[in-house]
Amino acid sequence: MTNLQSPWRTDFPVLQTQMNGKPLAFLDSGASAQKPQAVIDAMSQVMEQSYSNIHRGLYAISQKLTQDFEDVRSKVARFIGAPSEKNIIFTRNSTEGINLVAQSWARTNLQKGDEIIITEMEHHANIVPWQILSDQIGVVIKVIPVTDKGTLDLNVFKDLLSNKTKLVGVVEISNALGTINPVGEIIKTCRSFNPEIKILIDGSQGAVHRAVNVTDMDADFFVFTGHKLYGPTGIGVLYGKYELLQSMLPYQGGGDMIERVSFDGTTYREAPYKFEAGTPAIVEVIGLGAAIDYMQAIGMDKIATHEAALLEYATEEISKVDGLKVYGVKDLSRKAGIISFTMDCAHSSDIGMVLDQCGVAVRTGHHCCMPLMKTLGTDATVRASLGLYSNKDDIEALIAGLKKVKDLFG
Ligand code: ALA
Repeated sequence: MTNLQSPWRTDFPVLQTQMNGKPLAFLDSGASAQKPQAVIDAMSQVMEQSYSNIHRGLYAISQKLTQDFEDVRSKVARFIGAPSEKNIIFTRNSTEGINLVAQSWARTNLQKGDEIIITEMEHHANIVPWQILSDQIGVVIKVIPVTDKGTLDLNVFKDLLSNKTKLVGVVEISNALGTINPVGEIIKTCRSFNPEIKILIDGSQGAVHRAVNVTDMDADFFVFTGHKLYGPTGIGVLYGKYELLQSMLPYQGGGDMIERVSFDGTTYREAPYKFEAGTPAIVEVIGLGAAIDYMQAIGMDKIATHEAALLEYATEEISKVDGLKVYGVKDLSRKAGIISFTMDCAHSSDIGMVLDQCGVAVRTGHHCCMPLMKTLGTDATVRASLGLYSNKDDIEALIAGLKKVKDLFG
């Protein structure tokens, strides 16, 4: 690991392939991570050997798959330090988890004029659901600004707290900048101001890059998504404190979330099941379980150490490229493996296209963070994001690609 070569890279079949005739340098894990063979195998195995619906079949393969599915719920609880599997709701992704909280908790409990505080570096997923709620019931959205150092302005945050504040929503690690936000400190500040304020943490990047403990953190709600965690798409998790989940109305109605249905009225199952209407993403849940097993077998600390070393190397190398500006915090101890940059000589889309020809996959654009881009004074950046499989070779391919951009546009 000290040579910056990931010992886990060969676990990912797609990384042995080429793009545009070049070895694939995949630096877009922030958008969606590649899948290890263990995840692919676990999902194929279910479909080949024991596929059936769950919670409904009296026959053996359904009973077994129901047990395997519910075992993943317990595994997820342990992975994020939740007290019990009852705190874990399977969703489609982080976005759906946040929308669920907005519609099932906030829409019932908040009223016109109540305030929700979010941050300027939120992903659209933690902005738009609150704007929809604002249109529905007239809640007011307040925003913690980002300083010119790329961190949250916590002094302004303290000033924004008021007796109308009902919910604070913060991204643990910015998908656009990599900034690691001090969510523990933010939660403590909220609790000492008013313990009734609910706190939602968007852990979409947080759960991927380091160990998470929602109990120590004392979040009321925490969301993350499987596909960034080396698992499949279509499966995410909403953690909630159990008394909150129990008090909330279902998000969607349908099969499997009910106790009894009649035309006179319907009763719901307890949380988490009342939030999981319809046949769930069964195979994807199994894939998520395999992804968690895979990461835990490596160890979250080892993953974080490898990514930190590579981030340091990448930051050093990229800073040597003339006319290139890196956005966000300079203190790498406050940053995960995400580097967002622009170049004087070319627009981000042009850079992305040249890099594609060099076999380097990055994301370009606003990264679903348009308000943040406005604050940064740009419409788009190029974002190189690391995963546990990223290598020195990927960074070298990126730097070579950037030199080509300079040759073409500089
Ligand atoms: N949220 C994903 C990203 O950061 C799609 O690219």
